[in-house]
Amino acid sequence: MHKIAISNQKGGVGKSTTSINLSAGLAHAGKKVLLVDLDPQGHSSIGLGIKTENRQTIAELLCHDDCELKDVIQPSYIKNLDVIPSDNSLSVAEYKLAQTQAKEFVLRTKLKKADYDYIIIDTSPTFNTLLANAFLTAEHIILPVQLDYFSLAGIQSFLESINRTNAKAGSLVDHRAEIMGVLFTFFKTRSNLSKRVLETINELFGNKVFETRIPENVKLSEAQESSKAVFDHDPKCSGAEAYLSLVNEVMRRLK
Ligand SMILES: Nc1ncnc2c1ncn2[C@@H]1O[C@H](COP(=O)(O)OP(=O)(O)O)[C@@H](O)[C@H]1O
Ligand SMILES: [Mg+2]
Repeated sequence: MHKIAISNQKGGVGKSTTSINLSAGLAHAGKKVLLVDLDPQGHSSIGLGIKTENRQTIAELLCHDDCELKDVIQPSYIKNLDVIPSDNSLSVAEYKLAQTQAKEFVLRTKLKKADYDYIIIDTSPTFNTLLANAFLTAEHIILPVQLDYFSLAGIQSFLESINRTNAKAGSLVDHRAEIMGVLFTFFKTRSNLSKRVLETINELFGNKVFETRIPENVKLSEAQESSKAVFDHDPKCSGAEAYLSLVNEVMRRLK
């Protein structure tokens, strides 16, 4: 079972879009996939049309001892793809969780009995207890990066947060989360500025940068508005082709 967190300290860089379409693409390829929405904004859940009204969500899973996986997992419209959804009740849950003991290990423990080929975790951009839970569950991190002037700001401290989590809590349970790949999103024909940022990131991450680049493509947001993965919205668009290529690259790297 491979566990991958999609994470970056910045908002709006394509974390949720990548979580949805990577999960959907792996499921289309016949893999059994669980998408865990660990962001109170719930964009991954909404983007796949998962409803949370009158249902238990990731908030209850993390805060109630007696809440189990089977109480919160919902099937999606895609065969092989299940979701643990989130909504804004997760903000309150985060606050409660932060005050409990062993707060960073809850997700890891609750997912112990999950039986999937891949678990994909969509995260929020804030370094908090939720993100620590993601880093202590996933052994792989995909870092989506939008090539703009600010994309380098905060990357160093983000990497330090991962290292700190590994060194402290991770060492207690013999767990390490590592960057498996850097994914360029919103990719356009390059300006001089993005060329410089690209070079810096290539120097920093070397062969961890995915060959696949996700172009800027409005079909990706249209798909989310119609509660579909891009493959089921417009399978021929450049965004769908790019995410299919990412799916294959991820499967190749984790073989
Ligand atoms: N490659 C892309 N091209 C065009 N729009 C995109 C692309 N990736 C994401 N979007 C849109 O940009 C917005 C932010 O993306 P999102 O995946 O929600 O980012 P994050 O989860 O990092 O905050 C969303 O409205 C999404 O539909
Ligand atoms: Mg998001």
